[in-house]
Formats: sequence, structure tokens, C-alpha cells
Amino acid sequence: MEKIAVLMGGTSSEREVSLVSGRNVSEALASLGKYEVVPVDLKSDSLDGLPEGISRAYIALHGGWGENGGVQAALDAKGIPYTGPGAMSSKIAMDKIKTKMVLEMKGVPTAAWSLASPGTEASPLPLPVVVKPPCDGSSVGISKVSTAGEWTPALAAALAAQGGAGEVLVEEFIPGREMTVGVIDGEALPVLEIVAKNGWYGYDEKYKSDETRYPFYGEEGSAVIPGCPPEKLQQVALEAYNAIGCRGVTRVDFRVSPLGRCYVLELNTSPGFTSHSLVPKAGMKTGLSFAGVCDKILGCARFG
Ligand SMILES: Nc1ncnc2c1ncn2[C@@H]1O[C@H](COP(=O)(O)OP(=O)(O)O)[C@@H](O)[C@H]1O
Ligand SMILES: [Mg+2]
Repeated sequence: MEKIAVLMGGTSSEREVSLVSGRNVSEALASLGKYEVVPVDLKSDSLDGLPEGISRAYIALHGGWGENGGVQAALDAKGIPYTGPGAMSSKIAMDKIKTKMVLEMKGVPTAAWSLASPGTEASPLPLPVVVKPPCDGSSVGISKVSTAGEWTPALAAALAAQGGAGEVLVEEFIPGREMTVGVIDGEALPVLEIVAKNGWYGYDEKYKSDETRYPFYGEEGSAVIPGCPPEKLQQVALEAYNAIGCRGVTRVDFRVSPLGRCYVLELNTSPGFTSHSLVPKAGMKTGLSFAGVCDKILGCARFG
């Protein structure tokens, strides 16, 4: 039987979530009965723990080296095909500033933006804005600035999340609703809405609150916004996926304004695979089982 390594754990702040994703994916692939599945818990930013004889790798790592092109480049060097986008696309998607530059160049809609650094005294854009560290995830260091007095603490929080130096992203605040579109192998999955309490999907809403709901967009609890049918979000998600040069699986997150304008917030090139994660949920809506979704993603594994 073909030997598949499921890479999980890693050293990022998302290690625990990754272990859950990794166990789910391992069990699912094993249940298909056609692979010898080898779960691999990576405890450093290297492939040191990888056994011999692996023919393909399923990346269930989130954040850090597992999502920023690091593990992808290491697998390229070994000639082992892996799931999800290649090293360069992963690296761009992990950096919200680089992502916005590429999306803008390709005409994909994103919120107006600027940069700030230590000592920037006021918002470079009209308020309200959102200030965020470009390379973090999980909403760490992100805040909304509605009044001039909130600027300095928000800038400090975003800088602190990346060691106090460098540049942070300042984005026009987009009122409205939040949607996400999974893409597998160049096909957009059904659109899910993220309904967070108070309309802000921060760290607590992601990992602590059980009040966040995820209805399918256009179904009960998620009325369609005039001017923004689900097909439009699927189309723009594919444009974003192609602009960044993605392959295999990626999740594209959006804000949609009350007027029906959509804005790409970010691309996640190694989305979660816990039991309530959004890509498996959307994939299962197309008639696949959880294991079927994993197998489809594995089928797109490439290197280089
Ligand atoms: N420009 C924006 N307008 C409105 N809300 C935003 C904006 N940027 C971020 N947010 C809110 O903050 C959350 C986290 O931001 P995001 O850019 O997705 O960073 P992360 O990588 O931490 O998930 C979003 O899910 C959204 O609820
Ligand atoms: Mg996000």
C-alpha cells in the first residue's frame, strides 16, 4: 500500500489545532483502506521526524513553518508531493501585505489599505480602520480603530504581535457580513457565512465562543445580500486562488458590505480539518464524506 505521511503539530501557536486536524485526517484516510497512513508530529521546523519510504505528504500543519512555504520547500527538496499550494504561493498567502499587492495587481477586490510603523502618529486612512500584523493568524494583534484615541494602542498591539518592529497593515473597515469559500483543485465549494456575535470574528469567536454560527450562504439564517449571489463569491474566490497561484486546497475569506460589494480578506492555504472546520463542512455539502474530502485534497498533491 502507498505510504502517506500526515504532517501535524509543528511549532506555531496553532499546534494544538493542527494536532486535531492531523488526527482527523489520518483516521479518515486510513478508513479508506487503500493507504498506509503514517501520522507524523513535527516538533521542530524540519522534516527530521519523517520516516523513509513516504510517497506523498498530507499537510495538516497550520501557521508558521507549516503554512509559510517552509515545509513546502523542504518537501520540494526531497521530491515528495504534498497537499495544498506550493512554497511561493504559501509564502505570499501568509503575508497579508504581499497578498494584497498581488490581488490588487490582478484586479481582485480587497479593502483599501496602507502601512504604519513605530512612530506613525495617526491613521493613514480615514477612520474606521482595522490594524493588523501582516503575518500573524488567529486574529492576534488585530483591532478596529473607530476614534483617533484608539490609534496608538491599536498600532502598539499589532507591532507587539510581531516583536515591536517592522510595518503593519492598516485596512479600511468593511461593515457588513463575513463569508468563506473553500476551493479544492480549482473548484469553488458552497459558500459559508460566519455569523459571529457582534460581527467581529476575533480570537475568542474563533476558538472559545460557541455562539458563532456557520450557515450556508443563502440558506436558513443567511439571507442573500442583493448584488452578491453566492456564485459571485465563488467566482472571486477562484480569481484570488488563481492570482496567488494556489493549487489543491485553499480557503478564501471575505467581508461583504451591505451594498453587496465583496472584499477578499485573506487566503488560508492550510485550512483547519477539525470536526467543525469549514472546508470539510463545505466539501461534504457536495456529497463527499469527510474522508472523501481528504482523499480529493490528497489527489491534488504535487511538488515544485
Ligand atoms: N478590513 C476589515 N473590515 C472589517 N473587519 C475586518 C477587517 N479585517 C479583519 N476584520 C475582522 O477581523 C478578523 C480577523 O482578520 P483576518 O484579516 O482574517 O486575520 P487572521 O489571519 O487573524 O484571521 C476577520 O475575520 C474580521 O472579522
Ligand atoms: Mg482570518
